[in-house]
Amino acid sequence: MKVLLVLYDGGKAAEEEPRLLGTIQNKLGIANWLKDQGHELVATADKEGEGSEFRKHIVDAEVLITTPFHPGYLTKEILSTAKNLKLCITAGVGSDHIDLNAANERNITVIEVSGSNVVSVAEHVVMSILLLVRNYTPAHEQIMGGGWDVAPMARHSFDLENKVVGTVGAGRIGYRVLQRLMPFDCKELLYFDYAPLPETAAKAIKVRRVESLEDMVSQCDIVTVNCPLHEKTRGLFNKELISKMKPGAWLVNTARGAICDAQAVADALESGQLGGYAGDVWNVQPAPADHPWRKMRHPLGGGNGMVPHMSGTTIDAQIRYSEGTKKILENYLTGKPQDPANLIVENGDYVSKAYGQRDSKAAEKKEEVRTDGKA
Ligand code: NAI
Repeated sequence: MKVLLVLYDGGKAAEEEPRLLGTIQNKLGIANWLKDQGHELVATADKEGEGSEFRKHIVDAEVLITTPFHPGYLTKEILSTAKNLKLCITAGVGSDHIDLNAANERNITVIEVSGSNVVSVAEHVVMSILLLVRNYTPAHEQIMGGGWDVAPMARHSFDLENKVVGTVGAGRIGYRVLQRLMPFDCKELLYFDYAPLPETAAKAIKVRRVESLEDMVSQCDIVTVNCPLHEKTRGLFNKELISKMKPGAWLVNTARGAICDAQAVADALESGQLGGYAGDVWNVQPAPADHPWRKMRHPLGGGNGMVPHMSGTTIDAQIRYSEGTKKILENYLTGKPQDPANLIVENGDYVSKAYGQRDSKAAEKKEEVRTDGKA
């Protein structure tokens, strides 16, 4: 079996820190285990362009493993060259780097290590909310630069207490964010998700469901995005939706960069329509040096809490998603069923309900029969 691992180059840091498992140096800790069983393993960070190692090795790989942090983007076109591909493992959470519909057409299984880094991300979201609301970053930069001037920092610094916070998506991460916000005594916690939370879960964190996204964002001081990237969420936060937010509201997106329109966010921050924008995910990764999110600022300074894609790749998370990846491979090699919670698509259909509201293939078939007039 040929396994292709697309991971980032961890350089000296990965040589010094073996727990940086999501790197080509440390190969998720599975290299020797696979080689001892006689399998071929190719690990590369070279994933862009026609002549990349990714393109070269995808042609005959049976298993592709990639992290969302440095994803090998498996487009329909690249997938058509992958003659032996049977299994795509996302070492982490979020499989939008794969054309899932194209994977279904080819009966390729896409599976991720669900839950492996959801606490890591939820903690990052809470941190990002606080650093925006408290105007932390420019104040810290001022200190590092040798300055001391309280007033320009304090004029854009608020309490999280008594603010309204809403999440788009109340799955594993969204729910954990709200849970972690409870001790801050926010005015209200809201969520928008087509899948309602079980009543007991909603009651436990005193969250109110809002049926329309526009309605929810218009009520929020802070919005946090925690849904997957799919057809219905790509470009969701565009100029129009951002204009429905309260003037000066803060937006935190650790879900996927492409859920927000990059220029619309930069324009809204620079006009003050957004009080701040923070997150770790970018519409292209690695983000180009001239990406508008690198240098965008609020008119009062600050308001930019961007970091590279790292919230879900703490050392603790890397250990969990590496172990999860090994378990998925073990199941595959020994013919054991996979944990359904990890499956995104299998046997030509969506198993996960998180990638948009869609009918299952079986339901679609029924519909076809009905519209055919043959039913
Ligand atoms: P999950 O599957 O537990 O929850 C996702 C929720 O989003 C589901 O409840 C689903 O119904 C909802 N949803 C889907 N489409 C929606 C829409 N159009 N509007 C509102 N809600 C919608 O997934 P989990 O574990 O909470 O992760 C969510 C996403 O976070 C991942 O798909 C991934 O893109 C991102 N993520 C980012 C990481 C990072 O390092 N920055 C690490 C892990 C995940």
